[in-house]
Amino acid sequence: LYRKAAPTTLPTFLLIGPSGAGKTAFLTLAERKAVAQTHTSTAPLTIQALLPDGHTPSSSHYRSPGDPAYERSRRFLLVDTPGHGKLRHFATSRLANPSNVRGIVFVVDAASVAEEPGLNETAAYLHDVLLALQKRYTGAKTSKGPKEIPVLIAANKMDLFTALPPNLVKLQLEKAISEVRKSKAKGLKDSGVAIGAEDDGLDEEREWLGEGGEGSFEFGQMEEAGTGVVVKGGNVVGGNGVHVGDWFEWIADLL
Ligand code: GTP
Ligand code: MG
Repeated sequence: LYRKAAPTTLPTFLLIGPSGAGKTAFLTLAERKAVAQTHTSTAPLTIQALLPDGHTPSSSHYRSPGDPAYERSRRFLLVDTPGHGKLRHFATSRLANPSNVRGIVFVVDAASVAEEPGLNETAAYLHDVLLALQKRYTGAKTSKGPKEIPVLIAANKMDLFTALPPNLVKLQLEKAISEVRKSKAKGLKDSGVAIGAEDDGLDEEREWLGEGGEGSFEFGQMEEAGTGVVVKGGNVVGGNGVHVGDWFEWIADLL
């Protein structure tokens, strides 16, 4: 019998985040091991990348480098998406159908989240990405639920003296997402009253990110929606050299 070769479905990682955060710079680095000049992206871009030396895919911990299975497990796809507000449908459509997506790298400019308007812009986008993941998880038809998709918040541009350290990036974003959540709920309520919708209560629940109640949002609340969120600092371009090892380590753990 004639048998076709198995389709190559490499583990895929999506690069998402606001414009100017450094997604394409990271993609370029992962592809060519060198950073090149980037321009704001207007279309998505997929490349095949190889986990750099010094990182071991979690599935290959008991294999040695050079073993074909080891080498195969180092391969993955990186998908860059445009961050401009009018071009985010590329990212959201991938989120709506995330086959083969092993994880999401949400790239953040750690200097721009120190203040407005960068903080709110970043938080609003991250809120929407997390809500999409939450809806996918809680809306799953099967009892097993869909595969979990973890999120790495890559706090980029640590070389800048205005960059916040990763723990503060985390706190700033949690605080700002709490605000986004609150104002979104209020908007829904107001529009529900306006059209007299009867199921607005249900809608509000579906659109609420994380735990209900008056408390503030914390990334830990996403665990219940199958989404672990971690923040790790790095810099793709840099004065004292490139530092993206923690991000590749996060990817390695998922390979
Ligand atoms: P969009 O395509 O518009 O969504 O943006 P992007 O996230 O792809 O940003 P891009 O990779 O094009 O980077 C934007 C700018 O930030 C470029 O000028 C990069 O050189 C710069 N940049 C990226 N990473 C770093 C970093 O770690 N440190 C510093 N100082 N600059 C960086
Ligand atoms: Mg880009």
